Amino acid sequence: MSLLEIDGVVAGYGRGPDILRGVDLTVEEGEVQCIIGPNGAGKSTLLKTIAGLLRPRKGRVVFQGEVLNGLRPDQIIRRGIAFLPQERSLFPDMTVLENLRMGGYALEDKSLMSERIEEAFAQFPILKERYKQKARTLSGGQQQMLVMGRALVLRPHLVMLDEPSLGLAPQIVAQLFEIVRGFKDQGMTVLMVEQNARQGLNCADRGCVLDLGQRVFDGPADGILDDPRIQELYLGTQKKAETS
Ligand SMILES: Nc1ncnc2c1ncn2[C@@H]1O[C@H](COP(=O)(O)OP(=O)(O)O)[C@@H](O)[C@H]1O
Ligand SMILES: [Mg+2]
Repeated sequence: MSLLEIDGVVAGYGRGPDILRGVDLTVEEGEVQCIIGPNGAGKSTLLKTIAGLLRPRKGRVVFQGEVLNGLRPDQIIRRGIAFLPQERSLFPDMTVLENLRMGGYALEDKSLMSERIEEAFAQFPILKERYKQKARTLSGGQQQMLVMGRALVLRPHLVMLDEPSLGLAPQIVAQLFEIVRGFKDQGMTVLMVEQNARQGLNCADRGCVLDLGQRVFDGPADGILDDPRIQELYLGTQKKAETS
């Protein structure tokens, strides 16, 4: 049994059209999986649907054998799925420490909180240095470290990241993907969406391509990177960006 199974999921916003048009996808225990695909393919919509922010119109989301359809986002977090949306969702006027504590609000065992916060500080010394500062005073890279630190405090079974590298300087991006690998080493399973397809796949064990609301390819991440058809259709953006 896979940790997460998405079966024929159809979803959309309000009374609008179907954005996900029958997505099938599995996430295995302990892997890092990277979803790539063009803008508007439905990648964020898929993560939002798994997180319970959107209800599937058809199909099933099954986590550890339990159907999640219809559960609220807070109920889904308590089952061990954390969603780190694209728009970082820090509390800008709270301090670094307060933000880390908020990360642990869904912890069943609150006595773990201070231990986990110390561990996050050990991994991100800059957060320890700045623990009294308001989140909004941090640089973009530091804010993303804080988001990652919050995930470490909660230590979910499955962590879903939507475009974690967005807006970060190149040397920070490399660091960020190392942190994502670190999540795996600490026993978490990762499902990540990346516009930065090559680096995202380099960090991943498995990858899949979402296009027009459907999964059009999946397999080992290095296989996707080497596939000439996928290179042309979905990984060609870097070249274009250089010449335009
Ligand atoms: N809140 C929303 N309300 C209505 N339509 C939305 C909303 N968010 C996204 N969409 C639409 O859903 C489609 C897929 O968007 P999204 O899942 O964000 O794509 P991706 O993350 O792959 O770039 C787009 O056509 C977008 O306009
Ligand atoms: Mg998106």
